[in-house]
Amino acid sequence: MISLRRMLQQALRVSGRSAFPLVKWMERWAEGAAVAPEGTKQQTVKTLDEMPGPSVASFVWDLFAKRGLSRLHELQVGWGVQRYGPMWKASFGPILTVHVADPELIQQVLRQEGQHPMRSDLSSWKDYRKLRGHHCGLLTSEGEEWQAVRSLLGRHMLRPKAVEAYDKTLNSVVSDLIAKLRHSSRPQGLVTDVASEFYRFGLEGISSVLFESRIGCLDPVVPEETERFIQSINTMFVMTLLTMAMPSWLHQLVPKPWNIFCQCWDYMFDFAKGHIDQRMKAEADKVARGEKVEGRYLTYYLSQTGLPMKTVYSNVTELLLAGVDTISSTMSWSLYELSRHPGVQASLRDEVLNVMEGRRIPEAADVARMPLLKATVKEVLRLYPVIPANARVIPERDIQVGGYLIPKNTLITLCHFATSRDPAVFSNPDEFQPQRWLKKDHTHHPYASVPFGVGKRSCIGRRIAELELYLALSRILIEFDIKPDPEGVSVKPMTRTLLVPENTISLQFNER
Ligand code: HEM
Repeated sequence: MISLRRMLQQALRVSGRSAFPLVKWMERWAEGAAVAPEGTKQQTVKTLDEMPGPSVASFVWDLFAKRGLSRLHELQVGWGVQRYGPMWKASFGPILTVHVADPELIQQVLRQEGQHPMRSDLSSWKDYRKLRGHHCGLLTSEGEEWQAVRSLLGRHMLRPKAVEAYDKTLNSVVSDLIAKLRHSSRPQGLVTDVASEFYRFGLEGISSVLFESRIGCLDPVVPEETERFIQSINTMFVMTLLTMAMPSWLHQLVPKPWNIFCQCWDYMFDFAKGHIDQRMKAEADKVARGEKVEGRYLTYYLSQTGLPMKTVYSNVTELLLAGVDTISSTMSWSLYELSRHPGVQASLRDEVLNVMEGRRIPEAADVARMPLLKATVKEVLRLYPVIPANARVIPERDIQVGGYLIPKNTLITLCHFATSRDPAVFSNPDEFQPQRWLKKDHTHHPYASVPFGVGKRSCIGRRIAELELYLALSRILIEFDIKPDPEGVSVKPMTRTLLVPENTISLQFNER
């Protein structure tokens, strides 16, 4: 086929440019084919100018006047797939971004992401670190700097055996969560705003893994600094999209969003530094007393490698941040859906009780034998992917995706919410059906639902997060029957950089 095209090209060149439409069409076809990569569909390669998308004015109108920032996930479907197809461009403030909303095309992008994948070049998170002279952590660093910390942390966070070793630590946090739910669930077992309980659970869980000590988030009276840390994360996420959508000159004219954003980060960095310094001091005191120091916690591993302390501070801050909303949202949606699907809840409880054979505290080896539990978390993350849209920037070279030439350094938005609710991939896509993941004949595109990302830059906390979710959900099901709040309403997701519940979720935890 290629050689036929080449012959045609040559023939056309020799014959000179013809005015006949058919020959013109063949000419374009032959030229397009010459740049199409081996193994991809032969088609004309189009430029970004030819890519459809909303005008700047209509995009800004939808985002700001029609509360579009919190509905960005819906716009992936409403605009993108329905109005423009699986690829469209839009200018998000000063940034032009290409949206990709098809599993096959997402795969094409990720296959070309290179040795040191980059999420986003223009993040206001990086600007803040530059401004304050902080180092970047794993979420924000790039290139060799990212690779060095990724390899180091990967050894302790990605290897199954290393992660299983955290089950006792995490189980003691789960025990406190159960006690807290019991304490909060009055009257009639009602816990109002489960997400706020799970924020504290998430922060306590990730802190226990980072510091091997407890910080009291699940105590009856929560330390004020903990509440402020959680509040800072929430506000920082609200401000992230806003600060990115505003060109930097606007920060001077309308300084409030940028200032609030920086204050939140300042508090988060201080909080992490305070805990690290406290832990390091306790160890130095031990050494001074001639006692042996050994640790099995992430801050210890990081600080033992000779990394500058600024790098340790930034990595711990980012890990703390990454472990809070992600866990809280997934826990909240899981119990919300299970409360509304009592049949699934009963089957899941049967699975847990069968594996446990009378014991009440599941461990890592137990949850490994609970397929419906894993399918439930997969289904929850398909319906409510915590990161509804991820991004990639490919700085080294132009790439081809879906027949378009994407110039290097273009911000490419991967529309995971759209693909994971695509009826062409998942039947009844808006319904909670965990069993779909257990059917042998169930095949879907492997990039349709990728809540932890794929490849070298995928979520490094995945195994810890999954273990934490499995241990907490299985134990909650052993201890309680979960029912919806009789006065509750149905809750939709909203985008706050991450995908979170739009309204409070209240649930009944009835003692079993
Ligand atoms: C349900 C829970 C979670 C979900 C759905 C989730 C999802 C994700 C996603 C989608 C990414 C981006 C991947 C990419 O760009 O390809 C990511 C990155 C990351 N996550 Fe998670 N995450 C979760 C929990 C956690 C936890 C508990 C931690 C900390 C222990 C964590 C730490 C990180 C870090 C540090 C990165 C950046 C990795 C890098 O750039 O190398 N995550 N996560």
